[in-house]
Amino acid sequence: MSKNSPIGIFDSGLGGLTVAKQIIKLLPHEDIIYLGDTARVPYGPRSPETIKKFSEENTQFLLSKKVKCIVIACNTSSAVAADYLKKKFKNIPIFEVINPAAKEAARVGEKIGVIGTRATIESKAYEKDIKKYLKSAKVISLACPLFVPFVEEGEIKSNGLKETAREYLSKLKIKKIDTLVMGCTHYPIIEKLIAREVDNHVRIVDPGKSVAKEVFDFLSKNKMLNEQNSHGKKNFFVTDLTKRFTKVAEIFLGHKIEENLKKIIL
Ligand code: DGL
Repeated sequence: MSKNSPIGIFDSGLGGLTVAKQIIKLLPHEDIIYLGDTARVPYGPRSPETIKKFSEENTQFLLSKKVKCIVIACNTSSAVAADYLKKKFKNIPIFEVINPAAKEAARVGEKIGVIGTRATIESKAYEKDIKKYLKSAKVISLACPLFVPFVEEGEIKSNGLKETAREYLSKLKIKKIDTLVMGCTHYPIIEKLIAREVDNHVRIVDPGKSVAKEVFDFLSKNKMLNEQNSHGKKNFFVTDLTKRFTKVAEIFLGHKIEENLKKIIL
């Protein structure tokens, strides 16, 4: 691999495109290989063993594409499988979303809420990392599993979502948190709605933005940035391709993906 090699990004599905979007924004000259494991999404309700196995297969695929580093865009994979992958694949820099977001949350807040999938919250990964940076932090974690299907169905303004958000987030509202970590790839899409239910003044931490900055700093420091006159080729791979692909991808990335898209079998 060289500085011209692509950045590999994987997610359980298409939600990780919210993370890819932040990386592309900060590193527009980089080639990107995105893998969405759409055949096996969601990872959130699965066991740690299964999440590790799927994450390892995703990593193997990206390595076969000769990437220069790997970004685990999925919060669930980051929470459950990042340490395992880092130990197993020592020769490639692996970034995950939990640590940079936890660092940012500890920098700006004291009473910190974390929302995510069941697996992410049960792992306590955010809590552990936030406390590493700020011992006195008070962390209130909450699983919000129904947000993922609402966003994937494009129901981002529905009354159903609003009611679900009210019910889930009332538990955070009464705790009067000052900072909230959007600990799932899908949540930045409904960030405003979430903030409204908790407190409009709450500081939002978006792990996609935090990890993009970490990748940028690492590549700059190690002189691994791609040529600055490159347009950055983007290639998207998925493990299942349905008719709704274009629509769902657009929700997360903000524009359509039609070219450079390939279905693969892991
Ligand atoms: N990508 C997952 C995450 O960020 C959400 C979807 C899933 O459960 O697989 O946790």
